[in-house]
Amino acid sequence: MARRSGAESFQPVASTLPLADFPNLSLAAARMPRHIAIVMDGNGRWANQRGLARCEGHRRGKDSVRAVVEAARELGIPYLTLFAFSHENWRRPGGEVRFLMQLLHRYLTTELKRMMKRGIRVIALGELERLPAPVRSALERTIEATAENRGMTVALALSYGGRQEIVKAARRLAEAAAAGQIRPDQIDEPAFAGALGNGGIPDPDLLIRTSGEIRISNFFLFQLAYTELYFTETLWPDFRERDLLAALEAYQARQRRFGAVAENAASAPFSVAN
Ligand code: FPP
Repeated sequence: MARRSGAESFQPVASTLPLADFPNLSLAAARMPRHIAIVMDGNGRWANQRGLARCEGHRRGKDSVRAVVEAARELGIPYLTLFAFSHENWRRPGGEVRFLMQLLHRYLTTELKRMMKRGIRVIALGELERLPAPVRSALERTIEATAENRGMTVALALSYGGRQEIVKAARRLAEAAAAGQIRPDQIDEPAFAGALGNGGIPDPDLLIRTSGEIRISNFFLFQLAYTELYFTETLWPDFRERDLLAALEAYQARQRRFGAVAENAASAPFSVAN
């Protein structure tokens, strides 16, 4: 990774990551993303390349989840969303879906201690009612146990689809309007963002997708309007701290203008309260 040049003065990122392993890295604390969203892709290919069953890729992908959550926490990233299971993933073979649900269950039960220790709050987005009962209970327990943690928020997108979320929000607003609780002219961008029901977290500043696929795949369709997109060939099971740092370095090299010109483009057109 190349050292950034120029006269800009950097406030080095306070981190307990072994940054000594990355002597050429420079990240400006003031320009870290508030919210990183990740499409964790390539588990199946990682396993295929090794002659293993697809599920082995998912199993190893869970290690990447732990590594990235902890690295983001140590880097002081306030929000991290992980696209862990999509609305469309239900169409996978039953055995793979069951395995993914078991993996998620295990993750939620075994990681709770570490999350509490690191002050991580967990929330979930998506059609959670479709999850198997044991996963739902484990999720509810984790959400409840971590609710007061303030170190970082990890949002798990589960049975999540961006279009479905938008349709639901439109229905909610239409019902509120029909019931006389809101006037149609009060439905603006912040009101719509609020109706999406994604826990009041800000829009992502940075989206990372692994495995070389260059598409959004029904993820955060409303929220990605001004997000910086970063695609890497690295398969999710291989994605570790160094890959996160590379994405952050690429992010910091971008100029975000939000459709304005550089001098008055300090922030997104509107932001969701949190
Ligand atoms: C996409 O890879 C990945 C998934 C559908 C599941 C993501 C799940 C994990 C990373 C494991 C555990 C997650 C948590 C939160 C504990 P793919 O199977 O589509 O890969 P391919 O495109 O190479 O087939």
